[in-house]
Amino acid sequence: MKVLVIGSGGREHALTWKIGRSSLVDKVFCAPGNGGTASIAENVSLAVDDLPGLIQFALDRSIDLTVVGPELPLVLGIVDRFQSHGLSVVGPTAAAARLEGSKIFAKDFMKRHQVPTAACEVCNSLEEALGYIRRGDLGFPLVVKADGLAAGKGVVIAEDRQQAESAVERMMRHRVFGEAGDRVLLEECLRGREASFLVFSDGEHFLPMVPSQDHKRVFDQDRGPNTGGMGAWSADGILSSEEQREVVQAIVRPTIRGMAAEGSPFRGVLYVGLMLAPGGIRVLEYNVRLGDPEAQPVLFRLENDLVEVLQAIHRQTLDSVRLRWDSDCSVCVVMASGGYPGKYPTGGPIQGVDEAEAVGQVKVFHAGTRLQDGQPVTAGGRVLGITARDTDLASAIDRVYRAVRKVRFEPMHFRSDIGRQGLNWRGVPGNLQPG
Ligand code: AMP
Ligand code: GLY
Repeated sequence: MKVLVIGSGGREHALTWKIGRSSLVDKVFCAPGNGGTASIAENVSLAVDDLPGLIQFALDRSIDLTVVGPELPLVLGIVDRFQSHGLSVVGPTAAAARLEGSKIFAKDFMKRHQVPTAACEVCNSLEEALGYIRRGDLGFPLVVKADGLAAGKGVVIAEDRQQAESAVERMMRHRVFGEAGDRVLLEECLRGREASFLVFSDGEHFLPMVPSQDHKRVFDQDRGPNTGGMGAWSADGILSSEEQREVVQAIVRPTIRGMAAEGSPFRGVLYVGLMLAPGGIRVLEYNVRLGDPEAQPVLFRLENDLVEVLQAIHRQTLDSVRLRWDSDCSVCVVMASGGYPGKYPTGGPIQGVDEAEAVGQVKVFHAGTRLQDGQPVTAGGRVLGITARDTDLASAIDRVYRAVRKVRFEPMHFRSDIGRQGLNWRGVPGNLQPG
């Protein structure tokens, strides 16, 4: 069969790599892809939001299955459009993608279905927002969120009233996120440990993936501005089995059932961003696709043929699949262009990728790269996701950083503490106290 992957990040290189290993697949296309997908698939130069172009391509090339990586085309309705042309596609419809496309829709949905989340106020105007901030009911710090896609940058944690006022002014008056500033959410700030919990869902049945954790801040010890993710790791023990059961019962099941009951069954990958707060586990956000970078360490541990899982989502037979996971820990370190998430140069040659993979049990996933005369050069903020696995977390961290040290491009920046906070968590393989 012929498979089309839509997107160009580390997540899409990981998807393309995993799909390419399926015995069911003859050829993989990636639109638009990157330097990594170019070497294992055929890149197609179509943007992720060029829906007419993508539909025409899938029809012309008789694509058997399309997999959508990023949120933008999902929120724009790519799944609905492909389906109306009789094309097979895995991902949520525009109606189901509202769980990510509108934070206010997601909050109202959670209220309707008693899914635990942070207390919040919805503000339809600047005056309303300033009024709430002045009353201070939710306390400080206060989380201010623009109501739409803002590439992970639409969330501000305001330490005091002045910062909160300036954040809503920027969103609602100066419209730095465009339409996403039409309405804002003011949210109680939760404290605790964050985790990413992803499930495959066919609209009725769902299968949880292994838990993972992202590192969103640009510098070590969670300092500096938020990014799309500077690294992620996956290990049993990020959530204990009891916690996983609680997440499934209190969050995932009511979400999947609620979407089906409201006439928008969720088919694809549902990503639940969690805060393990002292008062219980709460939802920070829903995403309607695999996380990036989480997809890299998670798919690295998946033993199943991914295409069989994707077909089961499409055929709504996910209850017939059993997921199998490697018991190893996996760690992904994002190597970024110096300057990211601000301005950065591109076009620098990348060296050492083969040497990094020669460390063993290492996969170098490309993100912002392209090939120039057959050689990879930098083409984005997040350049590579170096992903390694080993039987325990300390060894996986050691292995990934041995691989990272083989890679060179200018200017280069990466975090040196990915996964380290898990070194003393109960239940993580290799730690002293088994969970
Ligand atoms: P979101 O896009 O809603 O996930 O927010 C991005 C990041 O902001 C999250 O991963 C958290 O680190 C942080 N965040 C969002 N909501 C809250 C909250 N209510 N309390 C504390 N931190 C939050
Ligand atoms: N890693 C966070 C995200 O994919 O949204």
